[in-house]
Amino acid sequence: LEHEYINGAVTDAPILQVRLSKAKAISQRIMQYQFTRLDGGPLPAATAGSHIDVLIAPEFLRQYSLSSDPADTSHYQIAVLHEDQGRGGSALMQRIFTAGRKVFVSKPTNHFPVAEEASKSYLMGGGIGITPMIAMAHRLHTLGADFALHYCCSRAQDAGFEDDLKHMPWADKVHLHYSDQGSRANLSTLLNYQTQAHVYTCGPENFMQAVLDTAQANGFPEQQRHMEYFSVPDLPQYDNHEFTLRLSQSQQEFHIPATQSATEVLLEAGINIEVKCADGICGVCKCAIVSGQVEHRDFVLSNQQRQTHIILCQSRAAQAGGVLEVDV
Ligand code: FES
Repeated sequence: LEHEYINGAVTDAPILQVRLSKAKAISQRIMQYQFTRLDGGPLPAATAGSHIDVLIAPEFLRQYSLSSDPADTSHYQIAVLHEDQGRGGSALMQRIFTAGRKVFVSKPTNHFPVAEEASKSYLMGGGIGITPMIAMAHRLHTLGADFALHYCCSRAQDAGFEDDLKHMPWADKVHLHYSDQGSRANLSTLLNYQTQAHVYTCGPENFMQAVLDTAQANGFPEQQRHMEYFSVPDLPQYDNHEFTLRLSQSQQEFHIPATQSATEVLLEAGINIEVKCADGICGVCKCAIVSGQVEHRDFVLSNQQRQTHIILCQSRAAQAGGVLEVDV
């Protein structure tokens, strides 16, 4: 699972040097990697749904979900899909990431947390999108919570995680769905809503949309439906207009031209605002809205969150010449 950032990535996350302790092909196109501390000691703790940034080479910083058990701080585990269409980072990684190599990674951060109080959790992983679901399953198992993990792949031969999943202490909660074997998931029958049930999905966009649409149709309230993108989805055609951004704490005003995002203008002006993906996916640039009409263009906020917050790296004023005031 990854997000790709090339150059210009801004992160103030503390960086750790770790050792690549294991590199294993788990299918023709998926590599699984494990990182341990150089001195073998415990790594910073991660919560289920967390990701780390991995520095593959100076020009490649990428984000991967952790699939390791959050209770086990002896290592971080990620998986990387070799993309035919990718921008080269995964191919480079497969070539140079051999066991024993020292690698820089960030501490884990989490934009996809699991609701531990849920009455039941449905973990719906499509292809490589299964990785955060595995960490969530570990956590829910530790809590003794009720959950079901569904691993959905087009072809059984690409299901690199099947073997791992079959040997988990919670293997009885795992359901495998392979379209080429006629076992495609029947979402409308398996996503049974009960009070306080939550559904999580990560994977190809069509898959996630089908999961979320079905969950909605089956009665899951919006705040109990969760998704995480692993690549930038196709964007609708937006027209950029200029607008004014006011910072409520300092009362400074900035003109945002049609050619720049609000975060670009703020960073140029020396305003300290955290930006990572700049694609509206990771959520780190989220700010509270004080006033103004927003055209939301992000992929992280729920409709409910959009009432009060904005993703500044992508979203803009709804009208040309509009004024947005944010709590910065
Ligand atoms: S920086 Fe990632 S959503 Fe804005």
